[in-house]
Amino acid sequence: MMHRQAVVFMGVVILSLSGLIHSFQPLFTLDGKSTTHRVITQMALLRKTAEVCRDIAATEGRDFSLTIDNSLTADKVQTACSSSDPSSAVLSTVRFQTSIAKVYFSNAKVDVIYALSEKYHFDDESFEAGRDLITSGVSAVKASVKLENFVAGRWTLGRVCHTLQDFYSHSSWVELGRTTPYSSLIRPDEPLQNLAGPTVPTCRSCKGGNCTDNLLPDLLQQGLITSGYFSIFSSSKPAGKCSHGGTFDRTSRRDPVGGINKDVVGSSHGFLHQKAADLAVNATVELLQDIRVAVGDKNFLQLMGLSQSSVLCFVIDTTGSMADDIAEAKRVSFDIIDRKRGTPQEPSAYILVPFNDPDFGPLLRTTDADVFKDNINRLSADGGGDIPELCLSGLQLALTAAPPSSEIFVFTDAPAKDAHLKSTITALIESTKSVVTFMLTDVLATRQRRKSLQGVSQRLLSESDAQLYRDLAQASGGQAIEVTKSDLSLATSIIQDTSAGAVVTVFQVVRNPGSPAEFTFPVDSSLRNMTAYITGTSSLKFTLTSSSGVSQSSSQSSGPLASVTRAGNLLRLGLNTENQTGSWRISVDSDNPYSVKVTGQSSVNFIFNLVEAHEGVHGDFDLKEGRALSGGNASLLVSVTGSDTVKVTEVTLFDSSRSTEVNGSLQSLGSGNFLVTFREVPAGDFVVRMRGEDSSSGSRSPNSFQRQAATQLKTSSISVTVQANTTNTEPGSTIIIPFTVAATTNGVVNDSATGTFTVRANNDRSYTSTSPSTVTVAEGGGGKANGTVTLTVPEDAATGTDVTLTIEAENAAATDVNYAVIRLSVAAKVTDVTRPVCQVVMILDTCPSSSSLCASSQWTFIANLTDGINGTGIDSITIRLGNGTLNTTTATGAGGENITVASYSAPCCSPNVELTVVDKVGNVGTCAGQVRALTTAVPAVTPAAVNTTSSRGHTLSTSHCLLILISAVVFLLWR
Ligand SMILES: *[C@@H]1O[C@H](CO)[C@@H](O)[C@H](O)[C@H]1NC(C)=O
Ligand SMILES: *[C@@H]1O[C@H](CO)[C@@H](O)[C@H](O)[C@H]1NC(C)=O
Ligand SMILES: *[C@@H]1O[C@H](CO)[C@@H](O)[C@H](O)[C@H]1NC(C)=O
Repeated sequence: MMHRQAVVFMGVVILSLSGLIHSFQPLFTLDGKSTTHRVITQMALLRKTAEVCRDIAATEGRDFSLTIDNSLTADKVQTACSSSDPSSAVLSTVRFQTSIAKVYFSNAKVDVIYALSEKYHFDDESFEAGRDLITSGVSAVKASVKLENFVAGRWTLGRVCHTLQDFYSHSSWVELGRTTPYSSLIRPDEPLQNLAGPTVPTCRSCKGGNCTDNLLPDLLQQGLITSGYFSIFSSSKPAGKCSHGGTFDRTSRRDPVGGINKDVVGSSHGFLHQKAADLAVNATVELLQDIRVAVGDKNFLQLMGLSQSSVLCFVIDTTGSMADDIAEAKRVSFDIIDRKRGTPQEPSAYILVPFNDPDFGPLLRTTDADVFKDNINRLSADGGGDIPELCLSGLQLALTAAPPSSEIFVFTDAPAKDAHLKSTITALIESTKSVVTFMLTDVLATRQRRKSLQGVSQRLLSESDAQLYRDLAQASGGQAIEVTKSDLSLATSIIQDTSAGAVVTVFQVVRNPGSPAEFTFPVDSSLRNMTAYITGTSSLKFTLTSSSGVSQSSSQSSGPLASVTRAGNLLRLGLNTENQTGSWRISVDSDNPYSVKVTGQSSVNFIFNLVEAHEGVHGDFDLKEGRALSGGNASLLVSVTGSDTVKVTEVTLFDSSRSTEVNGSLQSLGSGNFLVTFREVPAGDFVVRMRGEDSSSGSRSPNSFQRQAATQLKTSSISVTVQANTTNTEPGSTIIIPFTVAATTNGVVNDSATGTFTVRANNDRSYTSTSPSTVTVAEGGGGKANGTVTLTVPEDAATGTDVTLTIEAENAAATDVNYAVIRLSVAAKVTDVTRPVCQVVMILDTCPSSSSLCASSQWTFIANLTDGINGTGIDSITIRLGNGTLNTTTATGAGGENITVASYSAPCCSPNVELTVVDKVGNVGTCAGQVRALTTAVPAVTPAAVNTTSSRGHTLSTSHCLLILISAVVFLLWR
């Protein structure tokens, strides 16, 4: 609802409409009072997540004391949801917040991609088409969750939420005095009633700019639903119809003049803005409930990203010489699995990608530790034969399949044959923010087997081969660890460290070429189990000095500050920071390349996303996937996690190769969110740093903290923009994506530039795609060149699959690359839109009349459930309410339809039952029943007066007789 800043693409002509406001404002408010799509979405996600946790706690008999209202924060919800003792575990909301951000960024994108499509915003009375978008989107979300494609699910969910939320801003629902959501919008099998017909007048002109009562009294009296017409091009609209309103809406200047939108406080119907926003929150909660029931609580919480634990992700070379490495990967993963099983740190998923040459994959992704164990057990070192191997192809699969911000470990002893994928992998690292660490074994030595194969001894990994791995590690915030096979087991402790949960980076720097230097980093009191890692040559020396002046040199393997272990090029320092918060120093003496990384466990951390202002002065922002322009401005949306007591003082871009820092200006958006703007970011590779003060953790005076993001942010002088006009696609279809490459100087297109750019289009599903291999910016071309990429989705692509297309452009010297990312979800047309039906057959009741005796008796509820002859069939039946037991049998109905007979028995003390019945595409039906109410008073009350809600539920229970009551008439409960 708020603002839709349209960037309209007409062919390749980009018409930018600055400040076009036509929706709830997507991400940020301009007036400081209005509610954005971002806030509406976040509130709804937090509320529904908390409700699910509350229900789970109730079934597990745990307390749940959190009050569920619109003041929830991610920290509060996750703390309340965590079943473990909060004092023992360090909680991190990074995953949760990252997931929430994905949903609201996707929501905001609707205003960019579908700026002028009425159905995405319920403009122009497009109720049926808008509802179709919602219900088909919801069904795609459910399909994605079923495939465990949670990232795709979040992406689609955000889009659906946008349209749903816009209804409350753009329609007359709020004006009609409705205080509950319009539920038919999420139910494809319900008719949309009370719509004002196409010829029914709905508005009269506003009086002197005052639109408070421009809806026709007749419309209000009859309770008819309408929405405003909107166009930036034409003032035409059907006679007597309402307009959206606002400067850019030309229809609102024609009679009836004015509009009805509630996008912001200052809109035509801005006096109802807050009501519309509140209802939009509740409607979003209702939609989330539908998804939750269809996918189950556990899956729903995964969709929300409410998981403490990371995934365990290995990419393993399976060539003949890798037997020892595979054995070690197996040992360390089994150890993690066995130690963490049943604890909150148990990995939430396991990913395994084997590679060699000529093969890579298949990828295994499972939540079942035993399936992972089985698969890693079955890996054998015998593939390939000849170096090099398809390492980056394997890594690409892992990066695509792992949730964002995962730690990925690559085991290999050979160079990558597919080094051409380097820039694609780097782009993937930047967009997923996953961290890649390489375990390179025996790489600088000769290898027996390959030596004998090839008859000559050789250095298997040249300096440049190793540098490729180091570069990728550095871009992601990981490390390239080079060890002998016999020392590998010492190095894998790093895998154990990263699986601890809530691991944060305090400081990280890479020096290449190396030179002696001293670095400082603050140790704050929230940090636990601090560890420093140094990679470099064996001649590297260091001195560590604590805040209290205690020192330890590299000659002491166990000293007052650290216990040091060495494995190959890796030094691991387990730090003892107790009672020594404050500024620590580490000085490194080496002339060879080295890296230093300092980590710890803490709740205090942050997430960031690069955002880009829409063109124009008053435009809102949109997620930018791709690199910021060298010399231009860059903006980040930063969300702090972990503590409501944290005060952020500084966000900077740190260039570790030059030790320079660019300061950002901070604008607080509330709830720990900041818009950070950097002016004239120079060319280079940066990491985002946050500094501030934390007054929690029991210390008397606030103490300074620093966190550093792992992923590098690179700038580029090339701009790549796509003119995507869709976000979803059907199996078997081909979509065409026009794109523009431009040369820029100081962040703006250099219209006198010329040159040829290499173009690469990659998609993560290996779908057929075409693209030009180059585009040329010709003289007089305004510094820009256009091209198109096509992508064909195979016929057999499953609904709920997502595909991410990356379009890269590289300059002729191959020194600069930029890219754009397009995400599409695949969804076949939904044909089954009807919910399973429930027919109550009978209620058998021997319940006593007094509730004090209810424990000793049972009642039984029998219902026929069917998805009908044309339905996809019943997928699951669950007890939503009641603590009885459920048995099912199957039968065939009169019309040949499959029937599931549900028989539910419960103690009479549990007098209500509600079953949810989900079909194969996620339509949810509800089936409810109740035994007659028992009296709580002493037996003086006449039981006959107490009725049941079942249609003919006379109860005749006396003494021990089993009396069967058959309700001949069906009772249906649709919800
Ligand atoms: C939204 O739902 C909450 C909780 O069910 C309720 O208290 C509140 O009144 C609802 N808001 C509106 C505007 O109906
Ligand atoms: C972290 O430190 C605590 C003690 O402060 C210890 O009990 C715990 O095992 C450590 N965790 C890890 C993963 O090392
Ligand atoms: C740290 O401080 C606490 C409280 O002042 C004290 O009990 C503890 O012994 C100290 N630990 C060390 C290693 O000095």
